[in-house]
Parts: sequence; C-alpha cells; structure tokens
Amino acid sequence: MGHVRGRITILVDNIVPGRSEALGEHGFSAHIETNRGDFLFDTGKGRALAHNALLFQRDLSKLEEILLSHSHGDHTGGLPDVLLIRAKSPVHVRAHPDIFVERYRAKDGKKSYGGIPYTRGYLEKMGARFVFNRGYTEIQDGIYLTGEIPRETPFEGGDMGNRFALREGKEVPDILLDDQSVVLHTEKGLVIVLGCAHSGMINVINHAIRMSGIDSIYAIVGGTHLEFSGETQLKETIEALRTYDIHHLIPSHCTGPEALMRLRDELGGVFQFSHVGLRLEF
Ligand SMILES: [Fe+2]
Ligand SMILES: [Fe+2]
Repeated sequence: MGHVRGRITILVDNIVPGRSEALGEHGFSAHIETNRGDFLFDTGKGRALAHNALLFQRDLSKLEEILLSHSHGDHTGGLPDVLLIRAKSPVHVRAHPDIFVERYRAKDGKKSYGGIPYTRGYLEKMGARFVFNRGYTEIQDGIYLTGEIPRETPFEGGDMGNRFALREGKEVPDILLDDQSVVLHTEKGLVIVLGCAHSGMINVINHAIRMSGIDSIYAIVGGTHLEFSGETQLKETIEALRTYDIHHLIPSHCTGPEALMRLRDELGGVFQFSHVGLRLEF
C-alpha cells in the first residue's frame, strides 16, 4: 500500500482571515493536490468557490475527480461552477448513492428541502459522471473515501431528530447515510478530511483507523457539526480526541465558534483555526 504526498488548500469555509480578499460562506470545500493528481472534496454553497480558487491560484480545470461528502447544499452548491470551469468536459463525481434521495428538515411545523439543489440530469448535462460508493473505496493509491460510517459511539447522535427522507414514497428518519470523508494514507500518518461529519467525528476516525490499519493521525480537517450537536456530544468528543495520537486538529465549517473555543482551550497544542486559504502539507 502506497503513501500519498501533497497539500490541501481550504477553498470554502465559514471563516476568512482579516484583510483577505477571499469570500466566506457557510460551506466547505478542500482542494487536494497530490502526486497522484488533484481532487476537489466538496464545493461549498456556490458563491465562494470559483472566486477563492482564482484568488489562491488553484486550477479547477485540472481535477482528476470531484468527491462529495453528502448531498447538503453547503457542500454541493458549487458543483455547476466547477463543471463550467471545466467547460463541461466529463469528470467523475464520486458520492454515496443517497445524495439524490429527497430529504427535508422539519422546523416549527414547516418542512424545508434539504437535499442536493440540482437534478442528476442537469449535472450530467454539465459533464458530471457519477460514480457511487457505499464502502471504503480506493480512489488512487493512498487516497480513499470512507463510504458509510458505522454509528457506534453512544454520544454522536446530535441534530438528527428533525430530518427525514422520502424512500419509496414513505417518510423515514434520515440519518444521512451518505456522509463520508476523505482519508489520505501519508508517510506522516492519516490525513482525514471531513465534510460535515454528520455520522460523528469519532465514528469517522475509528472507521478510518480500522479500514487503513494506520493509527497515527497526522491531521483532521473539515466540518465536525459540533455547532449543532449539543453539550454532551462536544464533551464526549473532546474526551475521545485525547485518546488518539493526533498532530493537527483543524476543525472548520459547522464546528461553530463555541465548540472551536472549547476545542482550542481543552486540546491546546494540536488545535489550529481553519479558514479559507489554509494550507496543509502532507
Ligand atoms: Fe455542512
Ligand atoms: Fe451537512
């Protein structure tokens, strides 16, 4: 099994550093350059990606493949822009098949659509060639998508109550089975890139360690959903994080200010604030 080398640049995130010309938005996208080609993991909501890619000189016309963490619009909204930048030339878009499930959120008696904001047909006309995966999948030597994450920890069920999906015409609870992360097997250890981690950051880490056989974690970067998951999940997550060998913890996007402060205060040295333009070499 080979190791992969390269760097990650955060192209979409909720936080933009002072004096930066970059655009921030509630969303996530990471450009992953490697010795096995360039990949884009998620696309943000759609306003910031093309602008920020230009600003940081990351060429989205040269992607090997596009990888999607899940269907939510703050991760898939920028997909047509990337396809346009590629002049609609065919490109593999990897995702779990559930990204096209019709899904909703119920709030105060009202339901709002919560799925991917485009039809499959439209995206295919723009050049997307969907490749679906459910399990841990090798994209290139040393580059993997986790597939479905087993929900094992008792404390990572936050923010699941008011989501439902339509399956065969029936409303069923939606646990976002499509949530998946990128795992890079590097010389320095695992680099795990999370989308929203709806399945729980600790569940993702455990699955990545189990599937890769590597238990040293060079970096975790991406959305953790701790902003919406409640105090118990935050507390237990911090306790669990202490038990791993992690070098860089770079939570972003849906981690939220409260949880960011707590993670920084409690985990100290390994913690780093994420922002648009952040680079991580591996
Ligand atoms: Fe998100
Ligand atoms: Fe999400």
